[in-house]
Amino acid sequence: METEIHNRLESLIGSGALRTLGNSTNLIDFCSNDYLGFAQSNELRDRIQKEYRKHIDINIGATGSRLISGNSEFVESLEAQIALYHHAEAGLIFNSGYDANVGLFSSIPQRNDTIIYDSLCHASIRDGIRLSLAKSFGFRHNDMEHLEQRLQNATGNIFVAIESVYSMDGDFSPLLEVVEVCKKYNANLIVDEAHATGIFGKKGEGKVVELGLQNDVFVRVHTFGKAMGCHGGIVLGSENLRNYLINYARSFIYTTAMSFHSYLSIKCAYDKLSVSSHNNLIISSLVSLFKVKIKLLGDIELIDSSSPIQCILIPGNDKVCNCADEIQKAGFNVKAIRSPTVPKGKERLRICIHEFNTEEEIVKLSEVIRKVVTNE
Ligand SMILES: Cc1ncc(COP(=O)(O)O)c(C=O)c1O
Repeated sequence: METEIHNRLESLIGSGALRTLGNSTNLIDFCSNDYLGFAQSNELRDRIQKEYRKHIDINIGATGSRLISGNSEFVESLEAQIALYHHAEAGLIFNSGYDANVGLFSSIPQRNDTIIYDSLCHASIRDGIRLSLAKSFGFRHNDMEHLEQRLQNATGNIFVAIESVYSMDGDFSPLLEVVEVCKKYNANLIVDEAHATGIFGKKGEGKVVELGLQNDVFVRVHTFGKAMGCHGGIVLGSENLRNYLINYARSFIYTTAMSFHSYLSIKCAYDKLSVSSHNNLIISSLVSLFKVKIKLLGDIELIDSSSPIQCILIPGNDKVCNCADEIQKAGFNVKAIRSPTVPKGKERLRICIHEFNTEEEIVKLSEVIRKVVTNE
């Protein structure tokens, strides 16, 4: 077996797709999902520590799953607080966004149902779908005609899975149109808001609330590992849905719950978000500046996006990795996204813009990109 594993790794090296773990650096951050700088906020850290010290009687670890010994009034009231924040009836916290999607998609759709998903949906949605017994079909990214064709042929209960902000392209889903077409075919819409959480909506409630669509969406998934600076995820929907997941979502049932410290961190992050006024404006002006600078460079292919995720297409794993290496040498932490994470030919530099980045950093980064990408 060792030889076979070795050969498979060798073939990844051959296609420039070998993944290795690097250490975090002190380069300027243009790659993390810490959009609002919450993960590095001293104010948030102090608050969490202060609150944590008040609870010396609570176990360090959860000691068991939520159904055995890991539940508490604290986490249940946190779920209610977060559901209210996002204008939902109820919510159930999972240990990660990955677990949330896997638990949701593997447990709700049944054998004779149909799941229709955007082709750019995150791996966690795809993996949940693979575990489900329902039929599943992809539709071309954001292509409403293709979605409608799929809906016309669907049988059983129908589920449509999308992301409000796509993790690899950074573009938005045409949510209003998706809602309309789902209504027409009586389909249940599931929206992953991982990259919208904390960023969009007046108070970071996400794209669904920003557009007033909370009553038109069956389920939303929010995650705490990105703008919230913590870890974990929540599935938002009806109280009925919450009870169902507690009974059927295996990634919820068969795992040790998160620690009290994790729940407390999430609570403090939401408290901070609720009084933040409003970071999104800073990010969107930095995003606009970045787009203007890159567009001025002419020949560079920037994927159209108004979110903090900005991608420059540089086809070829070796080529995109070389570009990222050069940009890192110049002091900016920008990562290459290679195939097969993205389709072959769509390899890219994925640049995440944060509230804490400065205009000067953006200007310098675009200058470095010019030199590296145009081989000057
Ligand atoms: C769209 C989307 N959904 C879900 C996840 C999974 O969330 P988590 O990192 O909390 O497991 C991610 C990120 O990794 C994501 O980008």
